[in-house]
Amino acid sequence: MSYAKVLSVGLVGVTGHLVEVEADLSPGLPALVLSGLPDTALHEARDRVRAAITNSGQRWPGQRITVNLLPATLRKTGSAFDLAIATVLLGGAGELALAAFDGVALLGELGLDGTVRPVRGALPMVAAAARAGITRVVVPFGNAEEAAVVPGIEVKAVDTLHRLVAYVRDGEELLDPPAPRAEAPPDGPDLADVAGQALGRRAIEVAAAGGHHIALLGPPGAGKTMLAERLPSILPELDDEAALEVTALHSIAGVLPPGGRLLRRPPFQAPHHTATVQSLVGGGSGLARPGALSLAHRGVLFLDEAAEFTGRSLDALRQPLEMGRVLLRRANGGTEYPARVQLVLAANPCPCAKPAGDAFCECSPQVRRRYLGRLSGPLLDRIDVQVTLTPLGAAELMAVGTPGEPSAVVADRVAKARAAAVARWSARGWRANAEAPGPALREQPWRLPASDTLALRQRLDHGSLSARGFDRIVRMAWTIADLDGRHRPDKEDIAEATQLRTGVSP
Ligand SMILES: Nc1ncnc2c1ncn2[C@@H]1O[C@H](COP(=O)(O)OP(=O)(O)O)[C@@H](O)[C@H]1O
Ligand SMILES: [Mg+2]
Ligand SMILES: [Zn+2]
Repeated sequence: MSYAKVLSVGLVGVTGHLVEVEADLSPGLPALVLSGLPDTALHEARDRVRAAITNSGQRWPGQRITVNLLPATLRKTGSAFDLAIATVLLGGAGELALAAFDGVALLGELGLDGTVRPVRGALPMVAAAARAGITRVVVPFGNAEEAAVVPGIEVKAVDTLHRLVAYVRDGEELLDPPAPRAEAPPDGPDLADVAGQALGRRAIEVAAAGGHHIALLGPPGAGKTMLAERLPSILPELDDEAALEVTALHSIAGVLPPGGRLLRRPPFQAPHHTATVQSLVGGGSGLARPGALSLAHRGVLFLDEAAEFTGRSLDALRQPLEMGRVLLRRANGGTEYPARVQLVLAANPCPCAKPAGDAFCECSPQVRRRYLGRLSGPLLDRIDVQVTLTPLGAAELMAVGTPGEPSAVVADRVAKARAAAVARWSARGWRANAEAPGPALREQPWRLPASDTLALRQRLDHGSLSARGFDRIVRMAWTIADLDGRHRPDKEDIAEATQLRTGVSP
């Protein structure tokens, strides 16, 4: 009877946990029993490991083998335990000395032929190993580049099980990760391309500075898509913690761009209105894939032609948007991924997509109301900035090609405004004005003087403004003051905020 143990890492949501993989070999009918709450993928692991070991020219131990993954209470998904299972088996059978893997975590899926295949989520797995004090990991060569992004841990890679065996037995070298590539990722589109459109430019600047959700309404050709795509270009870079979280989510989805760097720019996701609910919110078998909502975490989720999304899709987005995270229900428990996004929604005012008042638009007022009404309950209610854009006039059109204010200049103002908001709210745990709850804004010391809010309060009394709308306007007014470097919003800020909310001055 013999016993062996190696380390691996399992993922729960975006968080990795060390997993001990132990093997016990005893005389008896040859069999391999896996235990420790394995899911279907782990049962498949049994067949892969067996084939990979024999096809790597190793002897399959003719004993009763029990492989146990600890802690038993941790739910384990995915195929990343294969390499550790194969290694511990060979170790337990006395075929491989495991001293070389003391305090080393092993990750990787095995192909039937003994190749070691990349897995999704290698980055958060390696980050967890580093946090747990592990100083060395062995990962699939296909994951080595992303694993090497994690500081404070040595990354070695293998392409085949045979290479791992040859390393232990014959002292052959493991592989090193490729050197990180120096070149910066290509920049996205710049605001300099947008001529005129003062209202639209101002709206996305305010949205960026306060972290406000924004709706861009207006006829085709008004520049809604163009503006939305430029929002990331004026948002501040992600801090270390956010960058690691965002990169981890992209790693779990298997969509990390090559280059071996943390994602530093806020992500931008623009799912098409025909996208499935699963691709929006996440799901799938094995290790659940984050959807567009989670891939946009700490960045922008852009719903273009928002009124064309199905009711089911819009419904599925509602709760995650409110909670800032997605709970995916699965056969054996739930998986949770973060999903704190800035929502940008673009929509035409009517289903025929002809400009309002256009001679060809024959949509009745009811049809038009119903069209946008689909958005109002679930989404529009949560959106601070709502502007209606008009296509460029003749004079502005002539100016197309003359560069507008570039993104870098706007981003600078946005960064300063964000810093002011952080200084004001950080003690309460809010990172942007959009996160400040309405009641807090109505209490001292933040309550604005009655003389400044008079017009708003009158509209509240007349019923032309809801209490929610009142809070949203005040919230935006703070952002406008922050952009202007003032300590408190004044009457003019409130007037501008009202315009960014309702299209009319109070
Ligand atoms: N303000 C603008 N400055 C420069 N080009 C513009 C502007 N507005 C619209 N355009 C041009 O019109 C095209 C359509 O704009 P788009 O953003 O797709 O409009 P929408 O999404 O509102 O239908 C753009 O690709 C761009 O070429
Ligand atoms: Mg468009
Ligand atoms: Zn119409």
